[in-house]
Amino acid sequence: MTDSTTPKNKLEGKVAIVTGGASGMGEATARLFASHGARAIVIADVQDEKGQIVAASIGPNICSYVHCDVSDEEQVKTLVDSTVKTYGRLDIMFSNAGMARATHTCEQTVFDIDLSAYDKVMAVNARGMVACVKHAVNAMVEGHVRGSIICTASVVASRGTKNTIDYTMSKHAVLGLVRSASLQVGSYGIRVNCVSPGSVGTQLMKDMLKTESDEEVDKALESTSNLKGGVLMPKNVADAVVFLASEDSQFVTGHNLEVHAGFKFRDD
Ligand SMILES: NC(=O)c1ccc[n+]([C@@H]2O[C@H](COP(=O)([O-])OP(=O)(O)OC[C@H]3O[C@@H](n4cnc5c(N)ncnc54)[C@H](O)[C@@H]3O)[C@@H](O)[C@H]2O)c1
Repeated sequence: MTDSTTPKNKLEGKVAIVTGGASGMGEATARLFASHGARAIVIADVQDEKGQIVAASIGPNICSYVHCDVSDEEQVKTLVDSTVKTYGRLDIMFSNAGMARATHTCEQTVFDIDLSAYDKVMAVNARGMVACVKHAVNAMVEGHVRGSIICTASVVASRGTKNTIDYTMSKHAVLGLVRSASLQVGSYGIRVNCVSPGSVGTQLMKDMLKTESDEEVDKALESTSNLKGGVLMPKNVADAVVFLASEDSQFVTGHNLEVHAGFKFRDD
């Protein structure tokens, strides 16, 4: 017997925004939102061609693409306002857009951190994240929607790293945002959580490892996972996001859900 609460339809009728949805975990999540019955999914990204292709492949009736650089608050406001205007409400904000590095060197350590590269990483990963949460909660409160906000943090949101101090700091900021915002909006019935992936073989990870070879990436990623049984995929993270977006997690807020297959650093 199937009804609207069957596992397939956890997001029936929901309106969602997915930032960074043109690629990687955002793309996988947009696809999964659609297969769980979401009514409308707005992909927001800066990669216009990719974003349009992903939206079209999910289906023009339920998925659209909007250009939005999350580090620009006006663009985030326009994204949220236009979503509410077009679909009547906002139920889910998956604030996921992020970047790994803004330098050509592999390392950002405390000895010689390039602060203009730091500013760029923080502008997207920390400022962009709070802009998305700010405009989503305001739209939800105004629309009397008991919505769900999910941010993408990282395993490095709660661990130090040897060579990426700017990225690590930006992801620690996401934890602070989620923990504080969840307290501030709880009385409106709005939940704010984050998902913290381990190493996943997306474009961001390829950029970090400075390789385009899937084989090399998989090999590197296997060494970061203690749990045997394959490599962590974007779909595995998307499953966790659907849990946080849906009523399955109706009393979960302020939580950092790590999805990392028993993460260990490659040189541990
Ligand atoms: N891949 C990993 O191992 C890993 C691990 C932990 C956390 N994360 C986080 O996961 C999130 C998604 O990354 P991914 O691994 O899927 O990589 P990805 O490169 O496949 O996707 C990131 C997306 O964000 C978009 N983006 C970048 N800057 C933007 C901006 N200013 N405005 C709007 N969109 C922007 C990119 O165009 C891209 O489509 C990021 O926040 C990243 O930090 C990734």
